Amino acid sequence: MIVVFGTRKGGAGKSTLSLNIAALRKLKGHDVCMVDCDDQKTVTRWNATRNEHGVEPAIPLINALGTDVVSIIREQAKRYDDLVIDVPGRDAAELRHSLLVCDVMVIPVKVSLTDVWALEKDIAMVYELQQQRKAIGLGMRVVMLFNEVPTLPNVRDKQINDLAEVILKMQDQMQAAGIEVCSVQITDRDSFKKVLGKGKSIFEIPPENQTKSDQSAQEEMQGLYDFIYGVEK
Ligand SMILES: Nc1ncnc2c1ncn2[C@@H]1O[C@H](COP(=O)(O)OP(=O)(O)OP(=O)(O)O)[C@@H](O)[C@H]1O
Ligand SMILES: [Mg+2]
Repeated sequence: MIVVFGTRKGGAGKSTLSLNIAALRKLKGHDVCMVDCDDQKTVTRWNATRNEHGVEPAIPLINALGTDVVSIIREQAKRYDDLVIDVPGRDAAELRHSLLVCDVMVIPVKVSLTDVWALEKDIAMVYELQQQRKAIGLGMRVVMLFNEVPTLPNVRDKQINDLAEVILKMQDQMQAAGIEVCSVQITDRDSFKKVLGKGKSIFEIPPENQTKSDQSAQEEMQGLYDFIYGVEK
């Protein structure tokens, strides 16, 4: 399965989520390769750190930039069962091209008005790409995911409630673009930051060092994993 974490909005959590999902897929024994389509190279750096620290299992990674993205992804899809793709946070060729060949697109969105406003452009882009794909008989699953949701339930509920009206107004456009809302939300947690510089995922924190918050982060990411790949036995 080819999964792209994509949005034109910078800093929404594409790299953080893609590297953790790729690591979890690998830890579960799947044949996964990461594809870094961002010249910022966040996931490439994380992966290099992982290799420097000798973290096992190693995760294959390739870079794909510019207009070669489609052919590189197609080539890698023949070699691996799964690809997890990270793209730049702007309206880049790499984002649009990877969306032409993926099975699933995950759009991370922070719980803020500016981020939800920015979603409108993503919806229009997804609609356009869905039309292009439909013309050649290729469907695409698109999932909108709230990321960095506040930890405190009352703060979270208030923030989401405040955005409800804006999101409601976008509902028809989202439906037309085939975008579903993920039933899982990913909370704002330190767990993601503390493992990054070690080349690890949140699933690789030694059990004796794991906090309750780390375990909650793992449960949420497992929920996202199940939403993308389906529940495994
Ligand atoms: N759920 C989360 N909890 C805490 N911090 C998070 C979470 N998701 C992302 N972050 C932090 O937010 C920042 C931006 O995340 P990230 O780099 O993954 O976003 P991005 O969408 O890939 O950005 P860019 O558009 O620049 O590529 C990072 O510091 C990351 O650690
Ligand atoms: Mg990134």
